[in-house]
Amino acid sequence: MSPNYDPYHDPNQDSPSDPNPLSPAKAADLQQRAIAVAHHAYAPYSNFRVGAAVLLADGTIVTGCNVENASYRLTVCAEQAAIASAVGLRGPQIRIRAIAVANLNDTASQPCGACRQTIHEFSTPDTVVFFPGEKGAIAQATIADLLPAAFLLTDS
Ligand code: THU
Repeated sequence: MSPNYDPYHDPNQDSPSDPNPLSPAKAADLQQRAIAVAHHAYAPYSNFRVGAAVLLADGTIVTGCNVENASYRLTVCAEQAAIASAVGLRGPQIRIRAIAVANLNDTASQPCGACRQTIHEFSTPDTVVFFPGEKGAIAQATIADLLPAAFLLTDS
């Protein structure tokens, strides 16, 4: 299944298969936090400022932004910064219920491949990813939609 780019899609409506859907208020709050933390981004090379807000299964929300480097490949993406902080805060057992990713560039943008793999590491089948879609819409997809064939160290 491909990610939802329907500009008329209501991001606050979770899929009917989700047994514990995010409330509209919670989804909006997550989105606002992602935008807020994007203002902290260190992105002097790309000028693409990204924020991510992670909602953990225990209700904790942790945010992060992209941090670039003159040695370009050392750049840390917003999603990875947020997830690293979440692990530091709550420990290695964290599970991501939802993650919102936003940028300040008014650009449709999906999480990069590396970030999908990082999100997958701490996800459940119901983990939802919100990201900037076309025409200012907020798109959403499950991590399974975004990364149907994640790398696993074991096949269990
Ligand atoms: N970036 C993110 O923070 N997350 C992504 O999923 C894709 C890209 C950042 C990395 C870099 O600082 C800038 O966006 C341009 O690639």
